[in-house]
Amino acid sequence: MSVPILEVKDLKKHYPIRRGLFNKQVATKYVVDGISFKIENGQTVALVGESGCGKSVLLRTIIGLEDPTEGYIYFKGQRYDQMKKNDVKEMRRKIQLIFQDSLSSLHPRFTIKMSMEEPLILYGMKDAKKRDEIIVNTLNQVGLDPEFRFRYPEQLSGGQRQRVIIARALVERPELILADEPISALDVSLQAQVLNFLMDLKEKYSLSMLFVAHDLAVVRQIADHIMIMYAGKILESAPSIEIYNNAKHPYTKVLLESAPSITKGIRDEGFNLNLKIGDTPDPASPPPGCLFNTRCILADEKCMTVIPEPVEISPNHFACCHKI
Ligand SMILES: Nc1ncnc2c1ncn2[C@@H]1O[C@H](COP(=O)(O)OP(=O)(O)OP(=O)(O)O)[C@@H](O)[C@H]1O
Ligand code: SF4
Ligand SMILES: [Mg+2]
Repeated sequence: MSVPILEVKDLKKHYPIRRGLFNKQVATKYVVDGISFKIENGQTVALVGESGCGKSVLLRTIIGLEDPTEGYIYFKGQRYDQMKKNDVKEMRRKIQLIFQDSLSSLHPRFTIKMSMEEPLILYGMKDAKKRDEIIVNTLNQVGLDPEFRFRYPEQLSGGQRQRVIIARALVERPELILADEPISALDVSLQAQVLNFLMDLKEKYSLSMLFVAHDLAVVRQIADHIMIMYAGKILESAPSIEIYNNAKHPYTKVLLESAPSITKGIRDEGFNLNLKIGDTPDPASPPPGCLFNTRCILADEKCMTVIPEPVEISPNHFACCHKI
């Protein structure tokens, strides 16, 4: 098999909690706590988990906005911390992050053209005509009228703005897109539209993607492989079809049962189906044993003390639970 476009090995991102006059470290937030995975060329991997489990921090670390506390990240086989300066610069162009909130990720006083032009100027494209040509082409690519480049973000609808965000990521000709809940701020009808559109782009330009969502229903169409994240760790990871037909982890089963609106099921009612009442663990004081033991109806004594190791169920299907 060829070298994966992205590989993450035992990645940790911990934040110190400091207090008092001397700013002494009193505790640690284990926000990303030992995550490993690969994305093959052209593959879409979904990362699914509840609010606060560390999804955005993981993405920010992958894109280089945060330094890992421990662990390594490889882009096309090259380890980040061993890359030459120029390779780092190139890598930053090849990996693009798409945020959820299109309004706050576009400068309100910049026209769409100015926003899209910024990265091109940053990377040294001096020819204004050529920049405009690229912007026009890219807006066409995402199905927007190129005349939109003279508008301001507030003059566009939510769906149009989200396309601009995607277009802005595409002007760099990326190879890997990190999409942090790219459709969750949109109306349901627009969600399907933007999702279909992302899938078309992926096919057309053989992009690889890491797609973050709360909801297993959302990623059903788009993901080749799904990772279920909880309190900083991956509890189950499998090809999509395995997750939907043969999920093994109790938490994955809860997420499946609560689809399509997992967020609503868990957040609003506090519990759902096979879930005990309780919050997700505080990243500063995770429970001993299995991280899911405070909410799992199957939890027994062993679950309270022994951390479950990943069990291989079938090729590329892993789950961390003592009851498998
Ligand atoms: N710079 C930081 N310093 C300390 N703690 C942080 C920092 N950034 C994030 N956190 C904490 O990390 C945890 C995970 O945050 P993160 O934004 O990754 O969650 P998320 O899974 O993306 O949630 P959501 O689905 O709501 O976007 C939270 O407890 C958050 O408070
Ligand atoms: S290890 Fe125990 S607590 Fe954790 S998911 Fe499995 S049964 Fe539930
Ligand atoms: Mg987030």
